[in-house]
Amino acid sequence: MGLTPFRNEPYLDWSDEGNVGKLRAALEKVGGELGGSYPLIIGGKPVETEGEIVSENPAKPSQVVGRVGRATEREAGMALDAATRAFEFWRNTPPEARSRILLRAAAVMRRRRFEMIAWEIYEGGKPWAEADAQIAEAIDFLEYYAREMLRLKDGKPVAPFPGEENRYFYQPLGVGVIIAPWNFPTAILTGMSSAAIVTGNTIVMKPSEYTSVIGAKVAEIFEEAGLPAGVLNFCAGYGSEIGDYLVEDARTRFISFTGSMKTGLRINERAARTAPGQRWIKRVLAEMGGKDAIVVDETADLEAAAEGIAVSAYGYAGQKCSACSRAILQEDIHDEVLGRILERAKALRVGPPGSPEVFVGPLISRPQFEKVAGYIEVGKEEAERVLGEDPGDPEEGYFVSPTVFAGADPRSRIAQEEIFGPVLTVLKARDFDEALRIANDSPYGLTGGVYSRDRERLERARHEFRAGNLYFNRKITGALVGVQPFGGFDLSGTNAKAGGPDYLTLHMQAKSVAERF
Ligand code: NAD
Ligand code: ALA
Repeated sequence: MGLTPFRNEPYLDWSDEGNVGKLRAALEKVGGELGGSYPLIIGGKPVETEGEIVSENPAKPSQVVGRVGRATEREAGMALDAATRAFEFWRNTPPEARSRILLRAAAVMRRRRFEMIAWEIYEGGKPWAEADAQIAEAIDFLEYYAREMLRLKDGKPVAPFPGEENRYFYQPLGVGVIIAPWNFPTAILTGMSSAAIVTGNTIVMKPSEYTSVIGAKVAEIFEEAGLPAGVLNFCAGYGSEIGDYLVEDARTRFISFTGSMKTGLRINERAARTAPGQRWIKRVLAEMGGKDAIVVDETADLEAAAEGIAVSAYGYAGQKCSACSRAILQEDIHDEVLGRILERAKALRVGPPGSPEVFVGPLISRPQFEKVAGYIEVGKEEAERVLGEDPGDPEEGYFVSPTVFAGADPRSRIAQEEIFGPVLTVLKARDFDEALRIANDSPYGLTGGVYSRDRERLERARHEFRAGNLYFNRKITGALVGVQPFGGFDLSGTNAKAGGPDYLTLHMQAKSVAERF
């Protein structure tokens, strides 16, 4: 198709007054659209529902961002039907045509970039740079998967066999249910949906109940890009109301999920049951949580380590699956690195994301705020709180300031459980062996990091650190599409590696055809 090679979308520069002005204008425009209504879109048609999801601004909970259709099993069934019908033509649409729709969606997303950033700020509570990185990542997924499909469209070579033509190629699976989290509401939703669509599947797309307006915008962008009716069915709703139904239904061929371990394991279990009339084993891609650690040894650049830990722990208020929630410091440099982390964490600006300087915005929701507040209480029992205050009044926004616990036992709850807030647990290790042991003492295995100048230790960690995404001498968040394919080990998920060269094949089935002439 004569495309330029894939390259990551550059981030916007917030020291450029032009960009600041454009975002302020977009915030004002989108501000005027708050409170709007978004129906479900099934088979290309708007579908009104009896109930609604009322989405709020987490920095100002009294502000309604939008009212979105709230599917029941009835509408979820309609969406599965529409997707089943659309599969009949979409599976036969040439891969090049499918790729072009992704490329066009990327172009639309680029044109609407400031508007989408504004929605991220209002509905996701994202600081500016984080909101922008979301849109850049969504564009990356679209551009990358469009090219990946072209690479895979003719299959892969097999060994020649005399007297026969042998071909090995991929075919779509069928109807996929896309279930997304709220913490990367544009990027992950766009990434999971576009991978499923470009490979010839049709989807029921369920965004998180906390970011359903952004979900509606993503659906709108695909429509604007020319995606035919029924290929993507926008089916917002509560996981507790339609999740099991969508997962268990016989029409569902695969489930692509990103979210918590608890939900992912439930989906995995329920998808394994065979519903009456079901004709396949459902495939489950489940990318789940983390309790990610950074190890620092005595040879490391301690300044860089403290910076990397603070940025990884507090970016988007720690609400990243990739966030550093455990810093494991060797005892000889423990106090010094801890001091430097505290300096940095104290300097971070907390508040509503009204300017590019705000680094820590609100938590996404009241339940999330209460969960994190609960862990802070647990932490006060289990360790020493060396930074942070008790969270304030949630009516004023779901803000929690950067918090550090020191002196915790590696087996304590705050060192083992995913908190998903701006809470860092600092652990002390005698030496590198013990640090690595502590890092690996977790059911999760998503991201990890090592700060060290010791080659032997880095090489050891390269093989022994149990993490799907491991980083040396840098922060552990912000994996780039095509550069650091993303997905964890162990109970962090099925290791699908979004944004990587194997991801699309997980959405297809491979076929071998031999012809003797
Ligand atoms: P969650 O599990 O609460 O919800 C995720 C999605 O699942 C939502 O759309 C929700 O409505 C839906 N859901 C809930 N119950 C369901 C059910 N019974 N059946 C089907 N779907 C159901 O997670 P969350 O709070 O939205 O997201 C945060 C979590 O996601 C964290 O644990 C984080 O680590 C993880 N995460 C992982 C990755 C990754 O790539 N590994 C990326 C981002 C977030
Ligand atoms: N891909 C996201 C990151 O690496 C989760 O931070």
